Amino acid sequence: MTDDAAIRVPPAHEIIIVPPPEHQGRLALLQQCIQVRIAVFVTEQGFPLEVEVDEHDPIATHWLLRLLPSLEPIGTIRAHKVASAAGSYYKLARLVILKEYRHYKLGANLVLALHNWAKNHARESGVNDFVKIVCHSQAARKDSGGAVAFYRKFGYEEEVIIVTL
Ligand SMILES: CC(C)(COP(=O)(O)OP(=O)(O)OC[C@H]1O[C@@H](n2cnc3c(N)ncnc32)[C@H](O)[C@@H]1OP(=O)(O)O)[C@@H](O)C(=O)NCCC(=O)NCCS
Repeated sequence: MTDDAAIRVPPAHEIIIVPPPEHQGRLALLQQCIQVRIAVFVTEQGFPLEVEVDEHDPIATHWLLRLLPSLEPIGTIRAHKVASAAGSYYKLARLVILKEYRHYKLGANLVLALHNWAKNHARESGVNDFVKIVCHSQAARKDSGGAVAFYRKFGYEEEVIIVTL
C-alpha cells in the first residue's frame, strides 16, 4: 500500500463551541481560536496581523478544535448571521487547521459542525425550508491550491465578481 492509499487516523480530538458573548470562559477560548488563526493566516501565509481580528469576532459563534487529552488548540472556524436586503444568511469564516494536522478530515468536521449549528439556529428562528451559508475563499496561492476546491466538496458554488478598475 502506498502512503497516499494509507488510511489516515486522526489524533484524538474534540470540537467545542466557544460560549456566547457575556458568558464565563468565552474570552480565554476565543483567544485560543485567534492564536490558531494567527499561526496559520499570519505566520504561515503572511497576511497582516492587523486584519486578523475584526468587528465580527466579539459577536460571532466560534468553534475550537483541540487535541485530547492535552486540550491543545489545533483548529477553528467561525460563523455569524448577516441580514441583507436580499435576505439573511450565515457567513462562514476563519477556517484553519494547523499545518501538521491537515488531511485528517478535521477541517471537514469543523465545516459540518457549523452547518449543523446553522440549521438548528435557523429552525429555532422559525425557518423550515433551507439555510443559506456564504463564505469567501482564498483563490489559488503561490504556495498552495487555495481552498476553493475544499469548499466545493460541501456543495458551495463559486461566485466570481469582476471589479472594473
Ligand atoms: C483548508 C483547510 C482548513 C483544510 O483542512 P483539512 O483538515 O486538511 O481538510 P480535510 O482533511 O477535512 O479535507 C476534506 C477534503 O477536502 C480536501 N482538501 C483539503 N484541503 C484542500 C485544499 N486546500 N484544496 C482542495 N481540496 C482540499 C481533502 O483532500 C479531502 O478530500 P476527500 O474528502 O475527497 O478525501 C486547511 O488546509 C487549512 O487550514 N488551510 C490553511 C488555511 C485556509 O486556507 N483556510 C481556508 C480559508 S479560505
